[in-house]
Amino acid sequence: MACKLLFLQLLWCSFLLVLVHGNPNYGDALEKSILFFEGQRSGELPPDQRITWRSHSGLTDGSQANVTLTGGYYDGGDNVKFSFPMAFTVTMLAWSIIEHGESMDCQLDNARAALRWGSDYLLKTATAAPGKLFVGVGDPNAEQECWERPEDMDTPRTVYSVSNEYPGSDVAGETAAALAAASIVFQKEDHDYSKQLMKVAKKVMKFAVKYKGNYSDVPGSPMCTFYCSYSGFQDELFWGSSWLFLATKKKFYFKYLDTLGFKNKSTDFFSWDDKLAGAQILLSTRGRSYYRTEAEDFMCRILPNSPSSTTNYTKGGLMFKLEPTNLQYVTSITFLISTYAKYMASSNHNFYCGDILVTAESLRTLAKKQVDYILGENPMNLSYMVGYGERFPQQIYHRSSSIPSMNSHPSHVTCEAGFEYLKSNYSNPNILIGAVVGGPDQNDAYLDVREDKAHTEPTTYINAPLVGSLAYLAGIYGC
Ligand SMILES: *[C@@H]1O[C@H](CO)[C@@H](O)[C@H](O)[C@H]1NC(C)=O
Ligand SMILES: *[C@@H]1O[C@H](CO)[C@@H](O)[C@H](O)[C@H]1NC(C)=O
Ligand SMILES: *[C@@H]1O[C@H](CO)[C@@H](O)[C@H](O)[C@H]1NC(C)=O
Ligand SMILES: *[C@@H]1O[C@H](CO)[C@@H](O)[C@H](O)[C@H]1NC(C)=O
Ligand SMILES: *[C@@H]1O[C@H](CO)[C@@H](O)[C@H](O)[C@H]1NC(C)=O
Ligand SMILES: *[C@@H]1O[C@H](CO)[C@@H](O)[C@H](O)[C@H]1NC(C)=O
Repeated sequence: MACKLLFLQLLWCSFLLVLVHGNPNYGDALEKSILFFEGQRSGELPPDQRITWRSHSGLTDGSQANVTLTGGYYDGGDNVKFSFPMAFTVTMLAWSIIEHGESMDCQLDNARAALRWGSDYLLKTATAAPGKLFVGVGDPNAEQECWERPEDMDTPRTVYSVSNEYPGSDVAGETAAALAAASIVFQKEDHDYSKQLMKVAKKVMKFAVKYKGNYSDVPGSPMCTFYCSYSGFQDELFWGSSWLFLATKKKFYFKYLDTLGFKNKSTDFFSWDDKLAGAQILLSTRGRSYYRTEAEDFMCRILPNSPSSTTNYTKGGLMFKLEPTNLQYVTSITFLISTYAKYMASSNHNFYCGDILVTAESLRTLAKKQVDYILGENPMNLSYMVGYGERFPQQIYHRSSSIPSMNSHPSHVTCEAGFEYLKSNYSNPNILIGAVVGGPDQNDAYLDVREDKAHTEPTTYINAPLVGSLAYLAGIYGC
């Protein structure tokens, strides 16, 4: 129904574009940022799949453990399903919808579909076998030796799990966060599904709290080379309980938060591994200002002109946290900034970093600057979102985007033969619309070379928080 408004909105948008010349087309970027998730899908693709150069894949995933683990998302340019970053992706998609869904217009259904593709899979990981949480499908080391389309995959689909004996409170806490956040999104839309998500979220959180350990420390786990739990699991216990508190309103979860010792602790980071700042901002914007001091301390460590800033910016104005894949930190942190800006504006609240006054507008300006940079307002004059703008990366590090599709090349491309496509300097044949790559280096420079994985690989956790910031900016500046 909202779509009926589209024509009027288009008129309004063209009017705004004339007025505020120079703003990127946030509505277009939003649509593409969500479309990207269809290119990352694993499992049996539905008839309404819009990225049609992809096809079914991973249809026997889980069979090694006699369970069904089809579906979910490949995390980036390879064909492994890693639950830890996937669950973070799902949490951030859900948070994007909860906080900024009101400015998504016609994209709301697509955003929910992207969320559900992930939450359906996470439900399977938590319910497929009693006493187990599945945390990965596909041997990531074997995958490194192979450049193959997911549709052709013949590398071992090894199944990884955690249990009471070999726990993983990090991946369990993040899975609980994802399921609880998704249950909030579907509360009205699909009440039964929402209830199911909530029930499993509680169960997984209980497991995370009762059996403590890092999933990447499980004997024989290959995860540390890929998605190691560097920050340990305390932050996921905090994050998972925060989401469960907001979803259930049960004091029990809130009391538990205080036992974790994060009062007065703050950080200048937010990522698939490190959730503390996210939880603090979530609690202070949606939980009656709990952990507000910590949330604002975080902002003061990020804002470039703050006396307590610990965050580097490039000459071109891009937040620069860490290699590889710096844009993941930019989009995650920018989501927190956007969300806090919205909260400050709606509650008429300001705060200080030393003697610098911080207003909703200060945060909005920073968020806009980061997003505009990603969309092309940067020294390379290059959009870091594939398919957006006039110039964008042509050689992203991505197996299915870089190898000709099943449609155009139906015969099998082997592991070894695939490397020819990795090494070639041709543009990718399949345009993965909406994919945001790892991004430029600290000198704002970017080489469009496929093998430069640290900069040219897109990932689901770069896009998921960007979905929220794009909706926020579309709501303010027009689409
Ligand atoms: C899967 O089932 C087969 C046949 O029942 C059995 O031999 C095998 O041990 C099972 N594998 C696992 C990992 O449970
Ligand atoms: C989990 O990992 C963190 C970070 O490496 C470490 O400090 C902590 O001791 C680990 N916890 C357990 C129970 O192994
Ligand atoms: C946190 O800081 C406030 C103000 O400095 C102090 O009053 C409070 O005791 C501290 N709380 C904890 C748990 O350290
Ligand atoms: C900021 O950049 C400088 C120069 O490259 C580097 O030495 C420093 O470690 C960076 N600081 C942080 C907090 O990333
Ligand atoms: C980007 O565009 C500006 C303005 O048109 C131009 O001065 C600059 O040389 C361009 N930079 C690159 C790397 O193309
Ligand atoms: C690819 O590399 C060859 C040889 O170095 C060069 O001549 C050609 O221009 C390159 N093509 C592209 C698209 O970069």
